[in-house]
Amino acid sequence: MTPPRHGGGRRFESGRAQFIFLKMVKCLSEREEDYYSELAPGYDKLHREEQERKIQLILQNFEIQPTEKLLDVGCGTGFTLPLWPSKDVTGAEPSHAMIMQAPKALQRRIIHVRAEDLSIFDDGEFDVVVSVTAIHNFTGVEDGLLEMKRVGKRKFAFSVLKKSEKLDEIDALIRKHFAVKKVIDTDPHDRLYVI
Ligand SMILES: C[S@@+](CC[C@H](N)C(=O)[O-])C[C@H]1O[C@@H](n2cnc3c(N)ncnc32)[C@H](O)[C@@H]1O
Repeated sequence: MTPPRHGGGRRFESGRAQFIFLKMVKCLSEREEDYYSELAPGYDKLHREEQERKIQLILQNFEIQPTEKLLDVGCGTGFTLPLWPSKDVTGAEPSHAMIMQAPKALQRRIIHVRAEDLSIFDDGEFDVVVSVTAIHNFTGVEDGLLEMKRVGKRKFAFSVLKKSEKLDEIDALIRKHFAVKKVIDTDPHDRLYVI
């Protein structure tokens, strides 16, 4: 039986170490949740057009077949989900407030989880894993990337916020864990990694 993956698959020396780690993650999640609770109601109005342009750029450079099963990590309010050509699309999103902005039919396709712990999904469950302007938000960037790698087969596209202070760290970690085919820097806000 596969052991539960709480804490992004970490192993702990003691119950106390695990307790402290989980408390820390909860605290950070609550802070993230506060931030996106405020942003959620106005998110689509403010960002939808810009995010849709990023998705068009991904689709111009990354082929997705309708038969491929796709996971969109940090899918926010879910408007990105119907834009992917795949017929089987799942969203992963930790902010309840963002999920609540999605129409009911889309909410059913969004799982309330963080990238760092995708243990609800099996190894290699998705043909394609995408993440659009979300990786800089992960508390554990490497844990999140490793989880996306675990649940994916071999096709990934990550659009990463260029102005993030974590950009260099994210770039190094993506190159460490994935065989990057193309890096596209034409969008003013995001750098796109095609894998
Ligand atoms: C800028 S929004 C992008 C949303 C969506 N991808 C889009 O293109 O509109 C960043 C998203 O990352 C999510 N996020 C924050 N921390 C995360 C984590 N640890 N794992 C996955 N997503 C996370 C936020 O809740 C938010 O919905």
